[in-house]
Amino acid sequence: MTMDTLQEALKGVDALDSDVAEESTQTELDSEKIKLFSGFSKLTRNQRYNRLVQMGGLSKEDVRYLRSGAIKSLDLADKLIENVVGYFQMPLGVATNFIIDGKPVIIPMAVEETSIIAAASKTARFVSEHGSIQTFSQERQSIGQIQIHSVKDFSKLEQVIQKNKQKWIQDVNTQVIPSMLARGGGMQSLQLRKIEYEGQEMAVIHVLVDTCNAMGANIVNQVCEYLKHPIESTSGEDVSICILSNLADQCLASTRIVLKNLDITLMKKIENASKFAEADPYRAATSNKGVMNGISAVLIATGNDFRAVESAVHAYSARNGSYRSITRWRVKDQELHGMIEVPMMVGVVGGMTRIHPTAKICMKMMGVDSAEGLARICSAVGLVQNLGAIRALTTVGIIEGHMKLHIRNLTWDAGAKGWEFSVIQKHLENLLKFRKRITLTHAKQALKLIRDRIKQVDDFKTLNKQKWAKDLLQELLKEQ
Ligand code: MEV
Repeated sequence: MTMDTLQEALKGVDALDSDVAEESTQTELDSEKIKLFSGFSKLTRNQRYNRLVQMGGLSKEDVRYLRSGAIKSLDLADKLIENVVGYFQMPLGVATNFIIDGKPVIIPMAVEETSIIAAASKTARFVSEHGSIQTFSQERQSIGQIQIHSVKDFSKLEQVIQKNKQKWIQDVNTQVIPSMLARGGGMQSLQLRKIEYEGQEMAVIHVLVDTCNAMGANIVNQVCEYLKHPIESTSGEDVSICILSNLADQCLASTRIVLKNLDITLMKKIENASKFAEADPYRAATSNKGVMNGISAVLIATGNDFRAVESAVHAYSARNGSYRSITRWRVKDQELHGMIEVPMMVGVVGGMTRIHPTAKICMKMMGVDSAEGLARICSAVGLVQNLGAIRALTTVGIIEGHMKLHIRNLTWDAGAKGWEFSVIQKHLENLLKFRKRITLTHAKQALKLIRDRIKQVDDFKTLNKQKWAKDLLQELLKEQ
């Protein structure tokens, strides 16, 4: 070995050592982060901010921004849409306990429905206690469609496409989307399909484009419109419409969850619930809605086009001719196996993701910098959310978990203030426990009773209000 090669080899060893050191530092950071998930839901809002800063999810500046109510200026809104009159604020929370592909991930979720974030966090903890979440993805290509409604000569069109395909791909990549090509993406292929409908034969040309880290709708639409002219002039056909397809089945992300040491009855119940959603479109629609509770919340938080993914997931759920659930759970060798495969046309550049300050913070919180990474996380959140729903449905039922949290909203709605709040909340909890139902009317009745009777109390100042109200509501409980 010469001196040079020895030095090269030693450099290699140094590099290896520093790789190992980096890896073990990363592992330490990850296990620290996992510890910091613990007890998150019990923290006050300020403690939650501190915890997220400790976890490296937020900077102090991010906290200042979020605490101040986030974006206020309407200038950004004016850039995004038309006829702006304000913002519609959606609550933003974080789901915890997610360990995806061995790494802890903070999941930002923008959603208005009570209990979605709680269910996601609780189920993610259950998964981490009993098994693991593994995600996968394939090469990502977006599809554009160029339709020729009344095709004159399909065979000739086929030949023209075959002959010109490579040139058109090259033209698109060099003239329309050179920056995509430079990033390792670009247009990759053209495919011709024949569709017969109501006695009409139409031709549809699929344009496959790797849009790298962009969601890519505008890119694909531009490519399709650019190709309209060369297709028409070389084939003599008339192009009808050019548009991206939201059925992004070349952009799939999937997740597998394997759980061990669970009660066999529970596993079987979950499998049976899954079969129900696989077999019946009425149940499938509800089950998939639950999956999208998780996925759309992450997409909104990261400024992605959640309508595009919603339509893709539903269309993909019906790909075999009947609408069915997008998830599947089976008991295999004493283990529970869950699977989801979803089309995920998402982006981490372009659109809102890089210009909306809250979306930027959410991306940073997740530690994701690629569309593929985001797609995989979304699929994991969808599957966990589904498990949470069917675990609840097959055990305590949906009302218990949902309504416990809903009690807070009912208490607010009824108008409870100060000390009344905890009293009414407790009353509704009891009512739910014993009567299995609660409504706003129950909350209002309880509040009215307290407020009417307290006027009759003489020694108001020395009264232990909480205890007094609790006794009073015991009576009401029997009537309600
Ligand atoms: C409610 O938002 C979602 C669920 O209905 C989903 C499901 O039924 O699987 C609970």
